[in-house]
This record gives sequence, C-alpha cells and structure tokens, in this order.
Amino acid sequence: MQIDFEALAEKYGTPLYVYDFDKMTENYRRLKEAFAGEKSLIAYAVKANSNLSVIAHFGRLGSGADCVSIGEVLRARTAGIEPYKIIFSGVGKRDEEIRQALEEGILMINLESEAEMLHVEKVAERLGKEARISIRVNPNVDPKTHPYISTGLHENKFGVEIDMAKRMYIHAKNSPWLDPVGIHFHIGSQLTELSPIREAAGIVADLVRSLAAIGVEIRFFDVGGGLGVVYRDETPIEVEAYAEAVTSAIRGLDLTIICEPGRYLTANAGWLLTRVLYEKRNGAKRFVIVDGAMNDLLRPSLYGAYHRVELLNDTENRGESTPAEVVGPICESGDWLAKDLPLPPTESGDLLLVHSAGAYGFTMASNYNTRGRAAEVACESGTCRLIRDRENFEDQIRLEKGHLEA
Ligand code: LLP
Repeated sequence: MQIDFEALAEKYGTPLYVYDFDKMTENYRRLKEAFAGEKSLIAYAVKANSNLSVIAHFGRLGSGADCVSIGEVLRARTAGIEPYKIIFSGVGKRDEEIRQALEEGILMINLESEAEMLHVEKVAERLGKEARISIRVNPNVDPKTHPYISTGLHENKFGVEIDMAKRMYIHAKNSPWLDPVGIHFHIGSQLTELSPIREAAGIVADLVRSLAAIGVEIRFFDVGGGLGVVYRDETPIEVEAYAEAVTSAIRGLDLTIICEPGRYLTANAGWLLTRVLYEKRNGAKRFVIVDGAMNDLLRPSLYGAYHRVELLNDTENRGESTPAEVVGPICESGDWLAKDLPLPPTESGDLLLVHSAGAYGFTMASNYNTRGRAAEVACESGTCRLIRDRENFEDQIRLEKGHLEA
C-alpha cells in the first residue's frame, strides 16, 4: 500500500518504526508457495521482529514460530501461535526455560550440545513428560556472509558435528524421555548464495539417511532461515530455487520441511522514520544530526551495515547535494545511520526514511543514553494503526529501586 510517512510522523512522532503488513503477507505467501507440493511449515524467526502484532499477523497466515528464548516462546503463544508450530532453539537454555517449553507442549526443542541434551532429558524426566527434540547440526560449510552472522562453520559456537549428532540421536532414541523427531541446520544469515545451502542440505540429508538405517526416523527437516534481502544492490536467492535445492536434497525421504525465515519476511517491509534536528560541520566533514540513533537501529554501528536513507521533503530549491554523515544524538562516534550520503542542505524537521529496517531493527533497540524505544506502526489494507507505544521515562525506570534509601 501507499504509506503516507509524513502523516504518520506527524501523528505518532519520531523516531518511528513503520511496517507494511501487506508486504509481509506477500513475502510469506511467495515462500510458502515455493514449497507447494511438499509438506512444509514456515516458522517465522521471531527475533527478526517480535512485536506481538507482527507475530500474530504471520500466525494468521499459518506460520509457526522459531524462538530462541522462553520469552520468544511466550510471545509466540501470546500472539496465538499453536504450540505444535513452535520450535525452541539457541545454544544456552536454562533448565527453567526448558521446563516451561515442555509444559507449553511445543513442537520440539532444538539441541545444540550433548550437555544440553542431558539437561533436557533430566527436566523431562522430572516433569514426567517426553521431550520432542531436534539436533542442530553444524555442517562446516562457509555461508559467505558477514562473520558476525555466519554460523555454519566449526569455528562458530552453533550446533554439533555430524559424529556427535549421531551419538546424540542414538542416546535420544534409547531414552524414555527424549523423542528425536527433527534435524536442523542454519549456516548463517543474509545469505545471497545458494550453493552453501545446497551443500549443507545435502550433508544433513545424508545424515538423515544414515540415521534411518540405524532405526532413528526423523520427521522434520529444518533448514533454518538466512535468506538474504536487498539492502543496496545484492542479488538475493530466488525462493523458488531455494525450495528446489532443499527438496532435491531430501528426495525419497518422507519429511516435513521447516523453514525459519526472519529477515526475508520482514526486512523490506519496515522503515525507520527519523527527523533532522540540525546540521553541523567539523572541518570539511558535514554531519546531519537526526533524532533516530544507534539505540533505535544498531545494524550500521554493529555490522557497518548499509541501509538506504531517503530524504522525503521537497528540496528542489535548496541547492546542491553534498556528502553527509547521518548521525544520531548518542555519545558514541559509532552512532551513525548513513555515511557519504549525498543530501541537499537540510532543515530542522525534515523527514528521513531509513529503508529495510523491518528486521533486526526494533528487536535490537536499547535504552542506551536513557532514550525510550521508538513507537511502532502497522499499515495494512489502506489503514495504519499503532502497535507499540513510544517508551517514556517512567517505562524506563519502572524496575529500578532503592536509589533514595540510606
Ligand atoms: N534460525 C536460526 C537458528 C537463526 O539463528 C536465525 C538468525 C534465523 C533462523 C533467522 O535468520 P534470518 O532468516 O533472519 O536470516 N542481527 C543480525 C542477524 C542475526 C541472525 C541470527 N540468527 C542482523 O541484523 O543482520
């Protein structure tokens, strides 16, 4: 839909996150259709954008949820996702988180180490409830993405090696408290090359075959997330080719494919709106200071990530564009949203639109510098609504105490 960003900024203030739910629907449907003809479940990776309305939106489309903390599991449940569509992953789960996940009756707990398996087994026994599990295999494949979001090499902390996975499956099969139903891999995020995924799927599918030979019948083949999107000029993987690579790897096996996209579903369906406060120069360098900052959108500071930034005002008679660094008010030199961005002279109140901010935007926001987190707005079928209030000072200090005592 055509979104009137100016009107939203006026009504709700800035910085402001805005999401296009119609675009999210379109992304979801395209991926789901790519797997038509296969048994498949899309389990939305909640970490990308965990606003309850976003999760509920995907839930209504039939999506499950990929969660990495009990908080995310409870968010998914609160947003109406059925337990049998929820997966709980992550390298470190507390016993209490495991217990709650088992009580919720989720589809499976994704194990990332032998030690974790023994903990899950113990908690399941204590509860008298068998735990459905999957094992995250680290196929040692280089996903060719940013090192911070690369996860499929042995040098990364994620998953277990093939031999260890086999031993774990055998242990699980023989345990009255563990039911090994799934296998999982996720080699990285923002992937733009298909070959590493194809290779990883092949390695893990071979493992499924060798497990079947020793009586371990896997039912869910979870290929993780990681589909890259366009931030600047990337060539993303076509989801149809992606689906084909996965389905051809498991040919002849009776498996339900689970796919856990986060970024693909939400990144380009979200924007951060921010207003210019003022401009300044330090020597030859031009800075445009805006009211959004690294606490709102951390990706540029953390990964040097590029986000397209667009000036929404009519600036025809303002003069030439020159390169500027768009920075926030936070006391860190790393607090920037765009570098070398050609901008005409700006005025206080001008509106900048930061693109591709729907994934890992709000979810990585913080209260650094005691800044309240931004409000969030959802637009769908021609109308927009507030889905999270702007945080105020009271919200931020609510849990603190004792400061005026002795
Ligand atoms: N499944 C697992 C097990 C994951 O670890 C992740 C992401 C996903 C699914 C979803 O990946 P996606 O489809 O969104 O690529 N904060 C970083 C991204 C971290 C991704 C962590 N894991 C960023 O802003 O780029």
